[in-house]
Order: sequence, then C-alpha cells, then structure tokens
Amino acid sequence: MSGKLHDKYTREAVAKLPSRKETISTGWRSPSNIAIVKYWGKSEGQIPRNPSLSFSLKEAVTEMLLTALPHSGDGFSLEYSFEGKENEAFGMRIRKYLSNILPYFPFLNGFSLDIQSHNTFPHSSGIASSASSMSALALCICSLEEMMLRRRTDEEFYTKASFMARLGSGSASRSVFGGFASWGFIEGKDDTSDEFASALEIKKDTVFSDLNDAVLIVNPGQKKVSSSQGHSLMDSHPFAVGRYKQAGKNLSEVLQALENGDVETFIRITENEALSLHGLMMSSDPGFILLEPSTIEIISRIRKYREETGSFITFTIDAGPNVHLIYPGEVREAVQIFIRDELLEFCHDGKWIDDRMGGGPEELNIKDKK
Ligand code: DP6
Repeated sequence: MSGKLHDKYTREAVAKLPSRKETISTGWRSPSNIAIVKYWGKSEGQIPRNPSLSFSLKEAVTEMLLTALPHSGDGFSLEYSFEGKENEAFGMRIRKYLSNILPYFPFLNGFSLDIQSHNTFPHSSGIASSASSMSALALCICSLEEMMLRRRTDEEFYTKASFMARLGSGSASRSVFGGFASWGFIEGKDDTSDEFASALEIKKDTVFSDLNDAVLIVNPGQKKVSSSQGHSLMDSHPFAVGRYKQAGKNLSEVLQALENGDVETFIRITENEALSLHGLMMSSDPGFILLEPSTIEIISRIRKYREETGSFITFTIDAGPNVHLIYPGEVREAVQIFIRDELLEFCHDGKWIDDRMGGGPEELNIKDKK
C-alpha cells in the first residue's frame, strides 16, 4: 500500500512513541451516511475505483467507548462488546482491523483495549452499520493518539480519522464529516484524494442543506451478498470501465447541481446512481438481485407522486432492498403523509426510520459512559 498520507503516517508512527503509559479513555458518536454517488468497486488497499458522494445522517449513529489500559506484555489485547454483549463476528473484524493499522499506531502494542459500542438504529434495519461503527472506531483511535502523542489541527485530525476509517470500510471514510462529503480523487480538484474523504461545503439555507432521509424498510434481513463480495465482482465486470466513467461524470454534474440549486439534475443523478448500482449487481457474474417487488412498487409510487405534485422528492438504494426517500425539509409535512398513506403498506411491518442530514461525529463526554 502506498500514497502520500500512508507514507507520512507510517513515518510519523516510528518517529515517536509514548514515554509514559497510563489508562486513557475516549468515546465518539459517529453517523451512518447515505451515498448519492455510489462507491462500488475498489482496488488493493481500499482504494475506490471512482469518487463517491454522500451525506451523513443524524439519527443513525454508533456510540463507542474505548479504554486503553497499559499492560506489560507485547502486542495488544481486545475486549469488545456490542450492546452490552460479546459479539464474536464484529469483535473479530475489529481485531483484524487493529492489527492492520498497527504500522500507523505501533503505540497500541502494550495496551489492553476495551471497546463498548451500541447503535441507535436497529441492527437489521438495512442501515449500513459498518460506516458508523468503523468511523467511530477510527475517531477513537485517533483521539488516543492525540492524547498520548501528538496534537493535530482539526483538519489534520479529521483527515487522519477519515483515512483510518477508510481502511475499516470504504464508506466509513465519509462518515467523519457532517453534511455532504466526497471520497476519491475528482478530476480538477487537487485537494481530493483516494486516501481520505473531505467535507463538501455547500450554500447554507438551500433545499440541499436540509435534506431528510426516510428509510423505508422493505426487508430488515441480512444482505444475501455482502458489499465486499459486490465490490470484488466489479473486478471482472464487463461494464466496469463504463461504470467508473459514468460515476465520475455523475459526480461532477451533481456537484454543479448542488452549487446551482439545480434540483432536477440532483434527482436525475441520484436515481440514475441507485438504479445503475443495482444494474451492475444484476449484470455481475454471478448476477444477483437485491431489489424486491415492494422496492419497485415504492419507486413507482415516489415517481408518480413527484409527477403529480411537482415536489422535490427522490430515492436512492444501497446494497439491499430498502428505499431511502430523500426530500427537503420544506415538504416534510406533505411527504410524511404520503409515506403513511401510500408507502408504509410496502414496508416490513410498516417499519421506517425518520432520519435527516446530520452535523457529523461528536466526541462523547466520558461521563456519558454507559
Ligand atoms: C452500496 O463501504 O460497505 O453502500 O469498503 O468493503 O466496507 P467496504 O464496502 P462498503 O460499501 C458501500 C457500498 C454502498 C455505496 C456507498 O456507500 O458508496
């Protein structure tokens, strides 16, 4: 793995180690995000094959507490609990992640780490928990480093946290920022990078600065095909080259649309991205279908409602059957009636999550400790 920041962080890591070890704790609340331009396909080292764009959610968050206790042996040890209980599968993922990031944080050797986390959204709600949990973890580790070794400016801190979150889960790199964030190098924008995401400043008080996301739960079950499997199927996908070109073009157009207040283009691209993602899944080898009949019914109704009312509402879908209905605050009341009257019958047990754009991660006051 290489890259400008990779080199910088590994160089820094060996240059200074803590002179004194003491017990320290930190905690972060970090959100999930919903992608408008999708990341689908990656190369070695979690490098995305195309740039992506998302906004962070407000309600769907992971809260994580990390305590590091010095021990006299070599290496690090880990105790992990999720919602008060041991969680073997996620514990293993975290252990593997921590081993992978040791070249950046060699100081972790010599500590017993105790990590407790919980999500504010139901486990099988179809909201990606890896984005919120891996970003929370990366933020906690970067805070430990700050407390022990070096202070960074806010910008440097969040860039490093995004870099580290990316190594845990690509989409998590975007969750360390509030509002819109993009990840991946964008032609003509030299401050963007495949190694980390950055916040995208947009004009305040526009329809785009106040987006809502109603997550309509068609099926709360586990995904049949994981995102990782989906990404790797892109390696041999016959449409891969065309897809990466399309994503780059969609991203530039949507950035322009956000800048110009161009709702029509935003809607066109948001839906094109969602349907293209699922088109890619269907045309992979082997192909797979995550959409369900109710997903299609919901999409048709959203489009019909938009045609009839002229309202700004649109949808996107991640790697699952659930629909994210995106709309601005100004039509909130009407859209919520529409959801109740026309969409809930297609949701599993009438389940949906009323979420919206959020301001990004927050450091927990350690007194909040659960
Ligand atoms: C469809 O970030 O979950 O949500 O890097 O393998 O952890 P890994 O994949 P992940 O993929 C997200 C895919 C997506 C689109 C997106 O969020 O951009």
